[in-house]
Order: sequence, then structure tokens, then C-alpha cells
Amino acid sequence: MTLYQGRIATKHSGLMDEINRSLPVDIRLLPYDVLTNKAWCDELHRLGILNADERRSIFAALDDVARLAREGAFEKLPDDEDVHTLVERLVTERADEAGAKIHTGRSRNDQVVCDLRMYACDRTAELSELVIRLIQTLQKLGAEHAETLLAGETHLQPAQVITLGHFLLSLGFALARDLGRLRDSFARANLCPLGAGALAGSGFPVDRRRLAEALGFDGVCGNTLDAVSDRDFVQEIVFACATICLHLSRCAEQFVIWSNPAFGYVRFADDWSTGSSMMPQKRNPDAMELIRAKAARVVGDATSLSALIKGLPLSYVKDLQEDKPPFFDALDSTSLCLRVFDAALASARFDAARMKDALTGDLLATDLADLLVEAGLPFRVAHEKVGRLVSGLEQQSRSLSNVGPEELRRQFSELREKRLPLNFADAPARRRVTGGADPARIAEQIEMLNSVIAEKSLRRRLTE
Ligand code: ARG
Repeated sequence: MTLYQGRIATKHSGLMDEINRSLPVDIRLLPYDVLTNKAWCDELHRLGILNADERRSIFAALDDVARLAREGAFEKLPDDEDVHTLVERLVTERADEAGAKIHTGRSRNDQVVCDLRMYACDRTAELSELVIRLIQTLQKLGAEHAETLLAGETHLQPAQVITLGHFLLSLGFALARDLGRLRDSFARANLCPLGAGALAGSGFPVDRRRLAEALGFDGVCGNTLDAVSDRDFVQEIVFACATICLHLSRCAEQFVIWSNPAFGYVRFADDWSTGSSMMPQKRNPDAMELIRAKAARVVGDATSLSALIKGLPLSYVKDLQEDKPPFFDALDSTSLCLRVFDAALASARFDAARMKDALTGDLLATDLADLLVEAGLPFRVAHEKVGRLVSGLEQQSRSLSNVGPEELRRQFSELREKRLPLNFADAPARRRVTGGADPARIAEQIEMLNSVIAEKSLRRRLTE
């Protein structure tokens, strides 16, 4: 049986089935299709299209379908075209006549997007929980390493002294923006398209607000044609996923560099490292490398979706069925990356001594120039003087690290009254602006992240 056997004579198989059949991908929407069907069934009952017995037998059939799914009955898939077709067939087999009425006044066009919006909201809530968990790991490590000195870089060159805590919290703040993006996307996804029918609106006077409320939506999609064409919510969420992965990827890249023995700043536990089949000495940071790679894939998913949508007329078209592979891939990959990154980071051993040993005098060049400014020189003059000193030292194969207080005072008479030597430990504390590297500011940054986390939590309809 097909849903449209009155019109299309063939039961598809072979190549047409291969390109047309979406069940292998959309089977994961089944629990949401059951919810959509129940709400629709209630509405048909309220309109007198289904009587109480029919409603009861459809509900029983839907519960049975949900149970079958939970028990793994669809691990080997039947040959239905998609999840909606599968559920309707199973309900009809169980509830006879009543089942044959369930599709009254509705289309798979509003049904699929209703299922997909609920699924999208649940996955967005899951991702936001994972983002929060990672932010909390970063807060904990940030507090532990508020005073662990680190050579901060720009252009990947030594720049100024910061702390490991400051570095780790920078990812925390990037993730806090990601959390905001997930929450915003959730709000726009959480609107009910049901009752849109194929495009024009259902021919039966269903109460769309009641449907929305029954399914836990915050409101209804305002135009039925838009309701069946709109996939902005998919694009937005995948963009949020891509941004999360890009943030993780950038930090992963830094950790890959730091795990090179030439740096030796970080060592991931054996659980998160691999060796080489040939080179006995190897300890590779594969988890971080793979997170970097997954980011490329999720960016690809976002690009695929934009390309998919670009030329489509404003209505339902079958192309929209192809939104699911990149959507699901982006969600799965992002969830995996967040979980792996969090666990690998929690296992990491940071080597504060190596970080400290790697500090070089040039990291204090700005501090020296600032000191000259405090002693009355215009900054540009101070910059030039320190620049000349560094150049001169370089010619003698020396650096600011080898210049003691006496020599500095000889070079710069302005420094006669100043406390010298400049030392690494004091450098972050001089950055006492809000958000700066000053250890005293780290607690404040942790608090700022706490208030972002506490802002609101996203409610899930179904939990695994
Ligand atoms: N499997 C389809 C999808 O994912 C469901 C909607 C099909 N609608 C239709 N008119 N053929 O988009």
C-alpha cells in the first residue's frame, strides 16, 4: 500500500525508492510523529470527526508504535516511504477505520515540519546543556589556574604575559555567546506549523492555538504557506552548531600545539590520546585533531543547507526532505565534539612549570614601555626606546630577560625611581581592567558566566 495509490499506480522500488525514500534518515523523528499524531487525533475528536472509541483506539495504536520503536523493532526498517507513512500504516493496521481517518485535514508537509521543530527544540536544549557543562569545566579550571602564568600570543608570537585561567575563560565567553544563539534559535523554532495543511491551511476548522499548546509550542506559525516552506530554524541551529565547533576547533588547535613536546604545556590522558603503529614514541592528540576536523564537516552542513534552500519556491518542495541529513549530522557531530572536548579537557594535565620556563623577557616589553609612560614619556617615544633596546639586544643574541635592573636604569634614566626588576608574575596583575588577565578579575569573569548560565533553561519534550 502507498499513501497515494489512487493516483500513482506503481509501488516504487529500485532507483526511485533509493532517491525518494527517507525512512532510514527520518525514523529518528518517530517519537515526535507520535506526539503530533496524538495532538491531531484530539483535535479531530473535538471537531467530531473521530468519536471517543476511535480516539481511544488510535491512541492505543500510537502507544504501541512508540513501544515498538523503544524496543528496537525498527532497527531493520520496513519499506515504507518515510516515518509519517510508516506510523500511519501501523496505526491503520491496529485501529482499522479509525486509523484511516487520522490524516483528515492535514498533509505530510505540515506534519514533517511539526515533528522537526519539536525534535529541533529538544536537540537544541540538549546542546545547550552540553555547552553549559563545558563552560562549568572551564570555570573550574579557570579558577584553578587564575595565577598560572602563560605566554599570551598574537600572530602566534609571544605577546604579553597572561594566565592559563584567562586563556581558558576566553573559550568560556565564546561558548556563552553560543548558548545565547541556541536559546534564540529555540525561541524561533518553538512555533507550531500544524494546521497549515499542504500549504493553504487545513480545510477543517482546527484550533491551531490549542494544537500548539498541546504540543508545548509557544505559539503558531503565522502564515500557513510560510509554515510549510520555512527551514530558517534548521539553518539557524546548524549555524549555531558550526560556530560552537569553530570555537572548539580553534582551542583544539592551540592544544595540539601545546601538546607538542617543544611546548609540553598540556598532556591529555591516555583515554584521549593515541599512539602510532610505526613510531613507538608517539603520543598523538587525536581527540583534538578530530574535533578540528568535525568543525569542517559541520561548516559543510551549514553550507549544504543554504545551497539547498537558495533556489526553492516559497512552498513545500521535495528538496526540503534533504534538509535532514545535514541537520542531523550537525547536531550529532556538535554533541559529540562538546562531550569529547569536555571529557578530554577534564583529563588534561597542564604543566605550569613548562609554561613558566617558556616565558621570555620580550613578553614584558609593553610593561616596560608602560612604566616609561608612568615616568612621564609619551607612549610613542617609550615604544620606540624599548623597541631600540630589544633590537640592540637581539644583535648581541640577548633579550630583555637578560637585562638586570642596573642596566635598565642605565638605559632609561626615567626609571630611577621605579620598582625593578619587572617580573613575570606582576604582569597579568597590571591588566586590572574588567575582563583582563589580572587574577583578581578572573573570579569576576567566572561570576559573569554564572549569570549567563542562570538566565534561562530550555525545556525538553522527550528525554532519551
Ligand atoms: N519525507 C518528506 C520530507 O521529509 C515528508 C513530506 C512529504 N510531502 C510530500 N508532499 N511528498 O520532507
